[in-house]
Order: sequence, then structure tokens, then C-alpha cells
Amino acid sequence: MNFELTEEHLAVQAAARDFAQTELLPGVIERDEHQKFPTEQVRKMGELGFLGMMVDPRYGGGGMDTVSYVLAMEEISKVDASASVVMSVNNSLVCWGIEKFGTEEQKQKYLTKLATGEIIGAFCLSEPEAGSDATSQRTTAEDMGDYYLLNGTKNWITNGSTASVYLVIAQTYPEKGHRGINALIVERGMEGFTVGLKENKLGIRGSDTHSLMFSDVKVPKENRIGEDGFGFKFAMQTLAGGRIGIASQALGIASGAMELALKYAKERKAFGVEIAKHQAIQFKLADMATNIEAARLLCLQAAYDKDAHRDYSMSGAMAKLFASKVAMETTVEAVQIHGGYGFVKEYHVERLMRDAKITQIYEGTSEIQKIVISRELLK
Ligand code: CAA
Repeated sequence: MNFELTEEHLAVQAAARDFAQTELLPGVIERDEHQKFPTEQVRKMGELGFLGMMVDPRYGGGGMDTVSYVLAMEEISKVDASASVVMSVNNSLVCWGIEKFGTEEQKQKYLTKLATGEIIGAFCLSEPEAGSDATSQRTTAEDMGDYYLLNGTKNWITNGSTASVYLVIAQTYPEKGHRGINALIVERGMEGFTVGLKENKLGIRGSDTHSLMFSDVKVPKENRIGEDGFGFKFAMQTLAGGRIGIASQALGIASGAMELALKYAKERKAFGVEIAKHQAIQFKLADMATNIEAARLLCLQAAYDKDAHRDYSMSGAMAKLFASKVAMETTVEAVQIHGGYGFVKEYHVERLMRDAKITQIYEGTSEIQKIVISRELLK
């Protein structure tokens, strides 16, 4: 078994680390405090190829593997999880979904711009009454011949007000249950489509999370992704890869907190010595490092499965389940190691602790990951 990263992987990792330190770190506290979307930083991420990493170069992407994506997500999430969620949604939900299941026309029209970051996308599945229970879609896409009439509300949509392209999951044949659901590409500016209120969140406050309203929006038939009724499976398959992205985000939040705690422990003195010399701190650091390494291996395993065209539903769910737990535990301990300083914004760890929580909720809660894993086991 070879755990070595290739030269290319190391270069991508170094580029992402450099970008995070030079472009994301300055201003990250202010963006979090004022809920300011990292507009300029996301634009640069597009220029550097971080928004369409795995997309075929024919459509403007980087043509990289999923392992590279995990490495870049970790580095960027160490510093700014609000920026990395934009990256994750654009890469693994929107770009991947269109590239894998879209028509050539859809790829030419949308993917080429999404992959370069000229525009960004959003993935719209959750509703006020359909979160974990994703088959209970109330949003309807009525078949009107050459277009769908879209009506309903979506909730907690990442990139809600900044996206130009929205992949919207909606029910066309309620009597068919999940087999009657479609996935439609909706453009910003289509008549009847409005962006609702921005959520005031605990974490990832720099990302823009909105509700969306659709009132008699006419979506052309050619904007449907896949066969009629494929929408739920589209969402599930897309989310399976999305979970690798969020697992890597959780990994980055944890390793970012660990790096800060390690540095602080070597500088801060108490009882006459650096606190790193106290076993109470050493034990915490040892647990953090062990858990993070295990989370990293799970993320890389899931990425490897995807790159090898093996089923990655279970390994992706395991990576997300475990890495998000590690993110939560590690960030709490990082705040503890920092003591009173950890509770104030300048030391970054309190933000990482707040950001960590969402990784146990979005793209399927931890409980959903356990359902996915146990179903695979019981097959
Ligand atoms: N790949 C392909 N098909 C799949 C699949 C997968 N990974 N998972 C399920 N399916 C198929 C099943 O085979 C089944 O099809 P058939 O009936 O034809 O066999 C169909 O989908 C329905 O599956 P289930 O019966 O298993 O459906 P369920 O109602 O029991 O729910 C669930 C399954 C796992 C709980 C699912 O509803 C789920 O994942 N819920 C969580 C939703 C979620 O993750 N939401 C996140 C929102 S997006 C987001 O957060 C993005 C963001 O902004 C950051």
C-alpha cells in the first residue's frame, strides 16, 4: 500500500496553503463578524482553478483527481470555512452534477463558466419541511409541454444570493414519490425567481445562506438534468461526492485548530514552563493529532475510491461522519488549550469551533451518514 502523495498532489496542496495564508487569512475575522461574503477571494479561487478542480479541461476545469481536491479543501478550510463551502458546493455538487449527468449543451452553456469561476452555482434540495427526509419535496415542477412551471421554496441554500446557476430539485409526479422528482437548472433572473432572507448563522458566517422562492418560474425542458424522474437519484449521487468535500472541510477545520493549539502551547507559559510541557496539554495534542490523521485517511480513502470508479457512498459517508466529529471535538479542545484567549476572536479558534458544527449538519446530518453506512452494510 502506497500512502505517498505525487508531485502534483504536493504542488496543489502547497498552492492551496499559500492562497489560504496570503489571501484568505487577512480579513477572515472581519468577514465572519460582519457576515461578509469573500467576493474578491472567491474570484481569485476561480482564477487559480480551485472552483472546477476535477472538471475536464475541455470545459475549463483543472482535470485533477479527487485526492487533489481533498488536499486543497483541507488547506483552504484550515483558514476560512466560509470560502471552502463555496468551493465545495461549486466543485462537487454543481460542476460534478452537470458534468456527470448534463447534456453537451448544458455543459457548454453552464459548466464552462462554473468551472472557471466566472459564475458560481448553488444546489437546492432542502426545503422548510424537507431536510433529512429529502424525498418529501413540496416544490413542484409541473410539466407544461416545452417547459416546467416551478413553484415552491428552498431553504438554507449555500451561495443563495451570489450564484448565477441553481440546480433545483422538484416534484413533477407526486404519485410516483421519489421516482417523480426532477432536477432543473434554473438561472438567476428567470421571472418569478426571488432570493429570500439571508440567514444569520452560528458559523460559516462569511458564506451567504438564503431561502429561495419560485413562483410560476418557466424553466425550459432542455434545462432538466437526466431522464424524466431522475432528480432524486441525481441528488443522492451528487451528494455522495459532496460528502467527500464536506469531510475534507471538517478535516481542515480540525487541522487548522490543531496547528493553532500546537503553536500556542509552545509559546504560552504557565507554572514556570511552556504549557506544552504539561502532560494535560500533551495528552490533548496527542488525541487531536491521532484523530486528525484517522480523519485524513478516511477522506483520502473516499477520494481514492471515487478516482478508482469504485462505489464511494459508504467511504464518503464514513469520512464525513468521522471528520465532522473530529472537527467538533478538536476545535473545542483547541479553545480549551488557549484558555481565555481561545474565547476571543483574535485567536481564530472560537471561529473554527463555531464553523465545525455545520459539518455535522449539512449535506446530511451525522445521523443520515449512519443510515447510509448501515444500509450499505446490510445490503
Ligand atoms: N446513489 C444512487 N441512488 C441512490 C443513492 C445513491 N447514493 N441513495 C439512494 N438512492 C436511490 C435508492 O436506490 C432508491 O431508488 P429505488 O427506489 O429506485 O431503488 C431511491 O434513491 C430512494 O432511496 P431510499 O429509499 O434510500 O430513500 P430514503 O427516503 O429512505 O432516504 C436518505 C435516503 C439517505 C435518508 C436521503 O433522503 C438523504 O440522503 N437525506 C439527506 C439529504 C441531504 O443530504 N441534504 C443535504 C442538502 S444539500 C446541502 O446541504 C448543500 C449545501 O448547501 C452545503
